[in-house]
Amino acid sequence: MKNFVSVNDVSNIDALVQKALAYKASPYIDKTLGTNKRIGCLFLNPSMRTRLSTQIAAQNLGMEPIIFNVGSEGWMLEFEEEAIMSGTTVEHVKDAAPVFGKYFDILAIRTFPSLKNRDDDYSELYIKQFIKYAGIPVVSLESSTLHPLQSFTDIITITEELEKAKIVNPKPKIVLTWAPHVKPLPQCVANSFSQWVNAWGKADFVITHPEDYELSEEFTKGATITHNQNEALKDADFVYVKNWSTFNDYGKIYESDPNWMLTNKKLELTNNAKVMHCLPVRRNVELSDEILDGPNSIVTLEASNRVWAAQAVLSEILRTNG
Ligand code: CP
Repeated sequence: MKNFVSVNDVSNIDALVQKALAYKASPYIDKTLGTNKRIGCLFLNPSMRTRLSTQIAAQNLGMEPIIFNVGSEGWMLEFEEEAIMSGTTVEHVKDAAPVFGKYFDILAIRTFPSLKNRDDDYSELYIKQFIKYAGIPVVSLESSTLHPLQSFTDIITITEELEKAKIVNPKPKIVLTWAPHVKPLPQCVANSFSQWVNAWGKADFVITHPEDYELSEEFTKGATITHNQNEALKDADFVYVKNWSTFNDYGKIYESDPNWMLTNKKLELTNNAKVMHCLPVRRNVELSDEILDGPNSIVTLEASNRVWAAQAVLSEILRTNG
């Protein structure tokens, strides 16, 4: 694996899932793989789980993680080619990325979309410019359109639950449902989850959202899409809850109907489904207390699995790049 910015960087999802689960069983089995190597984790935006789990994963492999909060502590970076830098940006990625490339062995980056211009956000300029100019492997810690470490974690968590249930050749029904929120959020988690579940190809995958919240077909193609949440939830084995803003009329909230929030009553429609959310979650807006504090929620397991996802990915990159 050279870089990790989407599911397209993974040649065998199931093999990578089993690698992650092996690290979960024996976290320090490769504790010298990253000796004398450094990973630079650049944050242009806030994070709790991604930041901590990536540090722990790197340390489990013997790597030294260095965190740099570019957004709040570093120079404001310019990403446009041939920019005349007479505005607020102070340093061009063309100059900064090669420096990171000399300081680190792997570069990991979190950068959110502006939600103002869809073409700009979906061009993934920031992560592409780091790949172009850093000269070392790049890992996405969430980009403008995707959150691959989260989605890989989600497939690990679903696999783990299916293995616990001892179902031979399972074909779970997985439902991604839109949830209300108070502000416009990126489509990254929903795009990425859709991309990974489709690439995994082992589920009956249904996406449900209100009208006008269609996601990009680039990621959802292959899923069943319905505006009827109750119909979608019928017999579901896993329900993934997430808000996203509009894709077509980009970055808007058209409505935030509280009836879209998952409740125990709605869960009765499912096959006693496990409920997932990437966190952070707005309680009693996106997801009810009764679900989050109830027996069907696996959100903490999901967040804890972020470590094993990151460890498997960093391990693959270390092995590939020496
Ligand atoms: N799920 C997730 O990426 O969490 P953080 O934003 O806290 O990293």
